[in-house]
Amino acid sequence: MPSYFVEGGHRLSGKVAIGGSKNASLAVLSAAMVLDGPCIVDNLPQISDLETLLEIFQEIGATVERLGPGRVRLDARTISTHEALSENIRQLRGSYYLMGALLSRFNKVALRMPGGCDFGSRPIDLHLKGFQTLGARTDIRHGIVFIEADELTGGGIFLDTVSVGATVNIMLAAVKAKGKTVIDNAAREPHIVDVANFLNAMGADIRGAGTDVIRINGRPYLPGDREYSVIPDQIEAGTYMLLAPLTGGDIEVTGVIPKHMEPLTAKLEEMGVVVEEGDEHIRVYMPEGGRLSATSFRTMPYPGFPTDLQPQTTVVLCMAEGTGRMIENVWENRFQYIDSLRMMGANIIMSGRLAVVQGGAPLTGSHVDARDLRAGAALVMAGLAASGITEVYNVDRIERGYEFFIDKLKRLGARIQRSPAL
Ligand code: EPZ
Repeated sequence: MPSYFVEGGHRLSGKVAIGGSKNASLAVLSAAMVLDGPCIVDNLPQISDLETLLEIFQEIGATVERLGPGRVRLDARTISTHEALSENIRQLRGSYYLMGALLSRFNKVALRMPGGCDFGSRPIDLHLKGFQTLGARTDIRHGIVFIEADELTGGGIFLDTVSVGATVNIMLAAVKAKGKTVIDNAAREPHIVDVANFLNAMGADIRGAGTDVIRINGRPYLPGDREYSVIPDQIEAGTYMLLAPLTGGDIEVTGVIPKHMEPLTAKLEEMGVVVEEGDEHIRVYMPEGGRLSATSFRTMPYPGFPTDLQPQTTVVLCMAEGTGRMIENVWENRFQYIDSLRMMGANIIMSGRLAVVQGGAPLTGSHVDARDLRAGAALVMAGLAASGITEVYNVDRIERGYEFFIDKLKRLGARIQRSPAL
C-alpha cells in the first residue's frame, strides 16, 4: 500500500508538460483492435492503466510492440479469441471498450464485467442497448457479458443519458457494420472526437463527433497502417492549473489544447485567477494582492464543467474566500473524499449531490486514503495546501492515471516523498 508524504505550505511554480489523455488513449487503443491492419499510436501517457490494457490485448493474441516511451505498434489481426476473461479486465473500467471492439471483429464477445473507480454504480445498459440496436443479442451471466450477432447492421440509437463509454463502444461496434448508424444525444468530450479522428485516419467514415449527433457509415475493411497521436490530457492539465490558486503559485501547463480547458478557465477567472492562454500552453497565477473568491460549480457532460475535476476543485474552494458550491450531476457518489477533507479541517456541509464549502478554514495535515484516481489527486492537493505533513495512502490508484505525478509535483517545488520509493 504505497503512500505519499506531503509537506504543505509551499508555493508551487514553474512549467509542467502535460501527457497524452488517459481516457482518449484507452478508447483509441481499443479502437485499434477493430482494424484490419497494423497502426502506431503515439503520445500515450505512461500510466499503469495503459500497461494493463496492453497486457489484456496480448492475452487475447494481439501483437503489441513497444517503440519507445508512449509509442506503441499494434496489430489486431493476430487476435485469436473473442473472450476476455482475465483478472486484468477487472482492474480498469476502460476494458469495457473490448465489448464493441471484439463484437465488431468476431460478431461475438464474452467479457468479464469491468471494474473501475468506486463512486456509485457503473451501469452498462446504454452500451448494451446500442449493441442490440445493431442486431446483437446480449446477456449477463456469472459476471460475464455475452454479446452475439449474426450480422451487425446500422441503426439509430438515442442515448437516454449522455455517456462517454456508450458513445465510444457503439462507434466501435458500428464502424464496420452494414449500413448507417446514428448516435443521438452522443457525448461530446474531446476524447470522443479523438477516437473518431483515429478511426477516420484508419479508413472509417464517422461524422459529427464533438456534436450530439454522430453519423457512422459502416466500412467492411479498415486498412489502418497509419500513425496517430492522442490528444493531451485535459484532466491532468486542469489538476496542475488548479495548483496555482491553491498554493498562491504561478504555473504554466505546456503541450495542451486551450480550447479543451475552457470549462475550467472560465471558472478560474470567475474566482479572480489570471489565466493567460498561448497556442499550446496556459499560464495560471493569482494577481498581485488578488483574492481567491468562491463560486458555484455544477458538473456536466462536456462542454460543461468536467466531473473528473470535481474533487480537485472542491479542495480549491476550501481555500477560497466565501461560500462555494459544488453540484455533482454525473456520478451518484463522488464525494467520498469529503470526510478526509473534514479530518484536515475543511468546513463542508453535504446535501445529496451538493457540497457547500465554507472557505477559509485552515487545513492541517492528516492520514487520508486515495479511494480513487481523482479523489486521490485532490487529497494530495489538500496536503500541499495544509500546514504540516499529510500521508496519502493507496497512491497506486493515483498513479493509474497521472504519469510521473510525484516527479512533476517536485519540479514545481512540492515537498513530497513516496514510500516505498518507486
Ligand atoms: C468516462 O467514464 C471516464 N472514464 C470517467 O473518467 C468520466 O468520469 C466519465 O466518462 C464522465 O466524463 C473513462 O473514459 C475510462 P459515462 P464512463 O458512461 O464512460 C451513466 C477518470 O477519472 N451511464 O459517461 O464510465 C453513468 O452512471 C474517470 O478518468 C448509464 O446510466 O462514464 C453516469 O451517471 C472516472 N448507463 C453517466 O451515465 C450506461 O450504460 C456518465 O457515465 C453508461 C453510463
